[in-house]
Amino acid sequence: MTAQAIEVFAPAKINLTLHVTGQRADGYHLLDSLVMFADVGDRVTVARASEMSLRVTGPMAAGVPDDARNLCWKAAEAFGEPVAITLDKHLPAAAGIGGGSSDAAAVLRGMEQLFGRPSGVHLPDLGADVPVCMLAHAARMQGIGEQVTPLDLQPLDVILVNPRVEVSTPAVFKALDRRDNPPMTPMPEGPRSRDVLTWLAEQRNDLEAPASDLRPEIGQVLRELSFLDGVRLVRMSGSGATCFAVFESRGLHEVMAQEMRRNFPQWWVEYATLS
Ligand code: C5P
Repeated sequence: MTAQAIEVFAPAKINLTLHVTGQRADGYHLLDSLVMFADVGDRVTVARASEMSLRVTGPMAAGVPDDARNLCWKAAEAFGEPVAITLDKHLPAAAGIGGGSSDAAAVLRGMEQLFGRPSGVHLPDLGADVPVCMLAHAARMQGIGEQVTPLDLQPLDVILVNPRVEVSTPAVFKALDRRDNPPMTPMPEGPRSRDVLTWLAEQRNDLEAPASDLRPEIGQVLRELSFLDGVRLVRMSGSGATCFAVFESRGLHEVMAQEMRRNFPQWWVEYATLS
């Protein structure tokens, strides 16, 4: 008899805004961030087992640890049951799109279903992005990431581009000029996506400048994205190096992604819808 296996999608997390508004005494930074989730991501499978195991497969598996160093493994241990995990990796690592955090949240969601109980895990202990990834739905993230408020937003078509350089999140935070930047301005109410795009363009990712100083490839990605037809907003996600472009009208993203892939075959390029 085959043990029941639960498969869970681990979507890419995109920070449409990321304002750094302060720093706590323990060094962690206070954030104000609008987060949405993509229909591209990793796939996690969990099944009951007599001991923990992790198998990493997929196009982005190279270099991903398949032992207790992996956040998936730590999440399962925190849940407190041994499971056999398969992680099918499609998202680049250390890329600002929450790959590891989303994988860990997917493990917990799968285990909740498998064992029929809430995880009971204190999510921020696994990482600042894990609480929002557990929701996997558009949200405002505040505090150091532990305060998550779900939002009702229209879907957005984007392309995601990573120049295939890894970025160290602590190094980017350390390189910040200021840690007391203003929070997001109030979001427009109502469902009109044109107003939301205008508002989004007035917000920031405060980590974009220090990350671009550390990795000049980020500046090149932002420039190339801004040249595409119909682009409304270009920004970096998280601590980089993945950047995104939001388009004025829906449906343009697929053909624009193909153009980017042709011009920059060495970059990771995906088109996605955020929700
Ligand atoms: O929590 P996570 O593992 O994603 O954070 C990685 C590093 O990024 C932390 O060790 C910390 O240096 C920095 N960080 C921060 N403030 C946050 C989130 C992360 O300073 N709110």
